[in-house]
Amino acid sequence: QPDPRPQEETVKYEVNDGVAWVYFNRPDKRNCMSPKLNRQMKIVLEELEFRDDVKVLVLTGEGTAWTAGMDLLEYFRMTEAEGLGAIRKSQRESYGWFERLRWYEKPTVAMINGWCFGGGYGPLFGCDIAIASEDAQFGLSEINWGILPGGGASKVAQELMPFRKAMYHAMMGENLTGKQAEEQGLVTECVPADKLKERVQEICDVLKKKETHALRATKWTMRRMVDMTYDNGLDYQIRAQEALHSFGGAAARKEATKQFLDDKKFKPGLETFDV
Ligand code: ACO
Repeated sequence: QPDPRPQEETVKYEVNDGVAWVYFNRPDKRNCMSPKLNRQMKIVLEELEFRDDVKVLVLTGEGTAWTAGMDLLEYFRMTEAEGLGAIRKSQRESYGWFERLRWYEKPTVAMINGWCFGGGYGPLFGCDIAIASEDAQFGLSEINWGILPGGGASKVAQELMPFRKAMYHAMMGENLTGKQAEEQGLVTECVPADKLKERVQEICDVLKKKETHALRATKWTMRRMVDMTYDNGLDYQIRAQEALHSFGGAAARKEATKQFLDDKKFKPGLETFDV
């Protein structure tokens, strides 16, 4: 008898007024990522991606951790004992959902409530906006147990942080506070722990009002352009804008322009048009 809700247990979620709150749900294990969690997370993300009642996805953690990185027992020791095939399978499962998140159809917000280590940098980077609690702690702890920051983690640090800071972070195995993570570019912003949910909710409320297809095109363009020249980026932007027309982009722009120029109902410099 197949499990009718195979996603439950290591991942839980609720959908509330347009926002899907997804939780790493292994608080006793500081939400470290086991192969099972990786499989269940992929199922949950795919289930939520095209639901009409989901406008924004928030990824957070149950308990004191966001995620303590890969599970040293189930992801590393147990998988390695089974040989190369098992290792590759578990790598693909984890990298697979990190990738889904990077190219997610909906806007995503990481709400980092606590510990965030190593493999956790993959989903951290996957989320479009990252809001951390001031008392969260971020670490590339790999060097502390004799490996290099793999699974994307070193690339994330190098991509997001100033080079000197990223190098120090990867080599020293010291943790950053939420405030330092903000200063060094690893997260968008940090706020006191008791304001974390409120701030994330506020961001979600703004994102919910934006035109869905334009928002998706915007986030994909920002990610795609990272390794493009200026001219290639410009060309990509033209094509992405034109592709938006397949999703009603021309009509949306026409309506927004009308609301500004003719109806004087809103100012694009100050607010979002009435979608
Ligand atoms: N892998 C496996 N088990 C873990 C992990 C992990 N990454 N993180 C926590 N746990 C387990 C602990 O073994 C412990 O299990 P037990 O209750 O069966 O003994 C339980 O979670 C609770 O952990 P504690 O260490 O007791 O929790 P504490 O709050 O004191 O410390 C901290 C939290 C700092 C996160 C600590 O657990 C830790 O250092 N974890 C490892 C962090 C890490 O380096 N992750 C790997 C990054 S590299 C990578 O992802 C490739």
